[in-house]
Amino acid sequence: MTSTELNRTASAELALVGVSKTYGTNLAVRSITADVPAGKVSVIVGPSGCGKSTLLRIISGLDVPSDGTVTFNGEYVDGVPDGLAMVFQDYSRSLFPWMHVDKNIAFPLKHLPAAERKVRVQEAIDAVGLSGKEKLYPWQMSGGMQQRVAIARALACHPTLLLMDEPYASVDAQTRADLEDLLLSIQAKLGVTVLVVTHDIDESVYLADHIIVLSKPPSVVAETIEVDLPRPRDQIETKEDPRFVEIRAHVTRLLRRAEEV
Ligand SMILES: Nc1ncnc2c1ncn2[C@@H]1O[C@H](COP(=O)(O)OP(=O)(O)OP(=O)(O)O)[C@@H](O)[C@H]1O
Ligand SMILES: [Mg+2]
Repeated sequence: MTSTELNRTASAELALVGVSKTYGTNLAVRSITADVPAGKVSVIVGPSGCGKSTLLRIISGLDVPSDGTVTFNGEYVDGVPDGLAMVFQDYSRSLFPWMHVDKNIAFPLKHLPAAERKVRVQEAIDAVGLSGKEKLYPWQMSGGMQQRVAIARALACHPTLLLMDEPYASVDAQTRADLEDLLLSIQAKLGVTVLVVTHDIDESVYLADHIIVLSKPPSVVAETIEVDLPRPRDQIETKEDPRFVEIRAHVTRLLRRAEEV
């Protein structure tokens, strides 16, 4: 490891250094070195199959890298780290259909005393705007509402790092915009570190402080972009900002190149 890499590792909450992953003879991820700064929103974009989900699985300790290291708060990740919560794309498979909303959210909090559990569940339900829906089953709710439940469940764990793998891919455009704004307002309030994977270039620029663009597989980091757009962001004003338009064009060009190389 070079001294620059050591410095990077020390300053970031989450640091990947030379991470690669091979499945059989398939080199999925070649050598990823990237930082996820504390208290910020980082976004990973890249062509389909470039290893975005693989990286999230490695960061969350659910899979191991073939080479390289991941550190979280300076500790090597070798299991699911404390303080981490994850929201998956497919809410219909991540929620328990036989449990009410409040029970779904309380599920990962079994280790806590009942009174504390109740407070956390209520706070999370309020944060995602689902008050009054506690006694619905997931299948009685729209897709966007179900994804709010999944977000509430992650928030109720009081994570310091929230990982989201294409969390809004299965909802309509208006719901997606609402859920993007919900994420940004919760993040601003709680200061949680967020790492989101998305396919959507507009979404990546709108959400991010920091975009990590991956190349096609075997993937490396094509570029890291700092998004210097002011906060709080607004779906109309931010997207009309010439700087937004410029960054979006730059990410689009990088992805086009990433597909071609
Ligand atoms: N458990 C596994 N066993 C074998 N190969 C795998 C496994 N998981 C992922 N891969 C392979 O690793 C590569 C990266 O997959 P991954 O799902 O991480 O990509 P992705 O960037 O998330 O794609 P998408 O944008 O389509 O979600 C692909 O070639 C995939 O086939
Ligand atoms: Mg994926």
